[in-house]
Amino acid sequence: MSVSDDLHARLEQAPVVPLVVPEDAETAISTAKALVAGGLTVIEVVLRTEAAIACLGEIVKAVPEAIVGAGTVLSEHHAGEVVSRGAQFIVSPGLYEPVVSYAKSAGLPIFPGVATASEAQNAWNMGLRSLKFFPASLAGGPSMLKALGAVYRDVRFMPTGGVSAANLADYLALPNVLACGGSWLTPKSAIAAGNYQVITDLAAEAVAIANQARS
Ligand code: 3PG
Repeated sequence: MSVSDDLHARLEQAPVVPLVVPEDAETAISTAKALVAGGLTVIEVVLRTEAAIACLGEIVKAVPEAIVGAGTVLSEHHAGEVVSRGAQFIVSPGLYEPVVSYAKSAGLPIFPGVATASEAQNAWNMGLRSLKFFPASLAGGPSMLKALGAVYRDVRFMPTGGVSAANLADYLALPNVLACGGSWLTPKSAIAAGNYQVITDLAAEAVAIANQARS
């Protein structure tokens, strides 16, 4: 099965992508394992800390049952770094053609962020049909996704930014939502306290909400 097929199959099962903001390899690995234990196996490690790229590689090695992608990939340089550490998909907050081309040439799924119709149209013309919608709540939330769905009928979105257990079902009720991303599943306070059960419980709650919303 290709990475893309495996990724899509897992997102059909559990359409939620937790964000991991890694501070060090040990806590990042524990966070990833806690998410997997709660039923979320597609994990986005965001490049927002000094340690992020190295931690991504450690998670890839230590948690082989997860599909580990890299988020906040801003440049070709970032893309090269994360591919060399074993990232299996790439997410960007915006649409930047060199990153899209890099991911395509590496054979990896790429989810560039869009927030407007023009950006979605540019991405569509690059041949992309799976896009991040960012920042989802500020860019219009589910109503905006409905409007975009009417015109970009073969595009599926991954809303991220302001998604939580409280509004997850509203997004997942839309047929053009592939999955939702978010950091609500990995609270800093739980990681600082070493309380990974909180993360497993949040993941399991998200899976339950998703099952209900999609049933
Ligand atoms: C992102 O990188 O996609 C967002 O910053 C995540 O937003 P959240 O913290 O509201 O989930």
